[in-house]
Amino acid sequence: MTPTQVFGVEFRHPVLLAAGTCGFGEPVVDVMDLADIGGLVTKSVTLEPRGGNPPPRVAEYRHGMLNSVGLANPGLEGVLSEKLPWMRDHLEGLPVIISVVGHRPQEYADVVDGLNTEDGFVAFELNLSCPNDARLGGRPFALDPESLEAVLDLVRPLTTRPLLVKLAPNDPDIASTAALAVAKGADGITAVNTMPGYLAEPRTGTPALGAGPGGTSGPGMLPVGLGAVRAIARKVEVPVVGVGGILTAEDALLYLDAGASLVQVGTGSFADPRCAPRVALGVARARNRAATHRPAPAATASGPVPSGS
Ligand SMILES: Cc1cc2nc3c(=O)[nH]c(=O)nc-3n(C[C@H](O)[C@H](O)[C@H](O)COP(=O)(O)O)c2cc1C
Repeated sequence: MTPTQVFGVEFRHPVLLAAGTCGFGEPVVDVMDLADIGGLVTKSVTLEPRGGNPPPRVAEYRHGMLNSVGLANPGLEGVLSEKLPWMRDHLEGLPVIISVVGHRPQEYADVVDGLNTEDGFVAFELNLSCPNDARLGGRPFALDPESLEAVLDLVRPLTTRPLLVKLAPNDPDIASTAALAVAKGADGITAVNTMPGYLAEPRTGTPALGAGPGGTSGPGMLPVGLGAVRAIARKVEVPVVGVGGILTAEDALLYLDAGASLVQVGTGSFADPRCAPRVALGVARARNRAATHRPAPAATASGPVPSGS
């Protein structure tokens, strides 16, 4: 398999594990050969530790799942003291992207600043697409251009590491939002996060999640993510990372053909913990087949003309 170079980082495979679906790598070290995936994105990290939302935090439905985990994570200090050392010791040099989130733009800057001088990871992914801002009624910063600009204005000068910006699926003009993020210094765009949704018990009407509403993910998100990646890739020059509904190599190839440089597997790992390596190896096989069967170029422009109408 030829490694993929994206924003200056070498990925053995173009298939990564998505933020929030693999912790800091702990659940994956015993279930797969790390050489069979391209990398992982950590759970989103906040400045202070977060306990998360009341249970139940996930619910299934026909085409995927709904979650409201509430960004449970150990916070900056916990990542510095425990998670980064663990990742350096156990992930065998696997490219790690640290996802960062906050309720205020300054929180992103504080987390990035606190982590930037550490080693053991290759890039930051700014999660601007979860319920960010209490003042805006939980609206993601990605849906508020002023907030998106404020985050990047604060964070960009703090680091030379690649900065990915993760966008929201319910953005009426996601390509323009991506262009704004790039104008403000983003090195890559990740599309998409979960779609806001709600599920209830059929007869009682009791909310399926402790927090009430949640984010939809899984196979039903495939066309949503794919449409976003296609639109973004046509508009911006930086690498696009596709995520949403990928369960098979065919799904991943759709994203790569639509213009994604890398893809991420999220909910697929809950259905099958080996989903990402299976997808990665399927993509590698398909690309090898395509390379082997590529037709030889025509000998001359004036060669025989095929007959038929
Ligand atoms: C349980 C769960 C937790 C998630 N936590 C995060 C998170 O902390 N940060 C983030 O940017 N995205 C988070 N996501 C979103 C995923 O990274 C991904 O963007 C989304 O689920 C769509 O991909 P999928 O259909 O393959 O799951 C989470 C998704 C799930 C299902």
